[in-house]
Amino acid sequence: MGYEKSAQYYDLFGEKPDISYYKHLGKQYGAALEVGVGTARVALELAKAQVEVWGIDNCEQMLEVARQKISLQPAAVQKRISLVTAEMTDFELSRTFPYIYIPSSGLSHCITTEDQLNCLKCIHNHLEKGGLFAFDLMLPGQSYSTALTLIDTKEVEGDVVRRWICHRPDFTNQLLHTTLIFEVYTQQELTKRIVESSTVSLIYKRELLLLLDKANFTVQHLYGDFSRGEQTTDFLVVEAVKP
Ligand SMILES: C[S@@+](CC[C@H](N)C(=O)[O-])C[C@H]1O[C@@H](n2cnc3c(N)ncnc32)[C@H](O)[C@@H]1O
Repeated sequence: MGYEKSAQYYDLFGEKPDISYYKHLGKQYGAALEVGVGTARVALELAKAQVEVWGIDNCEQMLEVARQKISLQPAAVQKRISLVTAEMTDFELSRTFPYIYIPSSGLSHCITTEDQLNCLKCIHNHLEKGGLFAFDLMLPGQSYSTALTLIDTKEVEGDVVRRWICHRPDFTNQLLHTTLIFEVYTQQELTKRIVESSTVSLIYKRELLLLLDKANFTVQHLYGDFSRGEQTTDFLVVEAVKP
């Protein structure tokens, strides 16, 4: 939930400093699975870098954007990327991978502890022995913008698209409710307004480490950014292996 109506605008606002990190690991391992692949923003870069990459997602609209982007690529790149519609809490693919990754805090889309463990179990099942599971996660923050706030303005094909955000944290239930509003202006007239609502879980660091332990992963590294710097904020990059 949260991407159906606005999938076409995801990449417009999707710039993040994560691609070289996930791609570098992909090149080391040669084959990869991305969980919550979305528009293939990251997966496509791995495929272009000779990595055979599979991606799963449960949002058809996001996968459709991905398919359109992939169809514009050379045949060799198209051949290296496979997309599957599947739930991250319950998937069964026909093969295993030496490297599985989740960018953009995708694990937080698993709302309950049971969902989180099911997702980790599926990843464990699809990871080769000794394989790497890498992901990033926004931990619960100190403050959230609870007022509707304009966070981005972009131009696309002569239109101006404005993105507004409003958060409602529920610390009792460890949930973060978010409303995103996309406003499209054509010649300065508001021509489209998309309201997208979503809920993700707020997972604390100690809780995450317990979940990984329970799912039989061995945590090798915890970083604070994609340059492998020390963790100093509420952002975490995790590298865990299947022993
Ligand atoms: C923040 S987006 C990240 C997309 C892509 N990985 C990226 O980094 O650009 C999270 C993605 O997870 C997908 N997703 C959310 N819940 C899911 C679930 N239960 N099963 C599979 N995919 C899910 C969404 O559809 C969305 O494409």
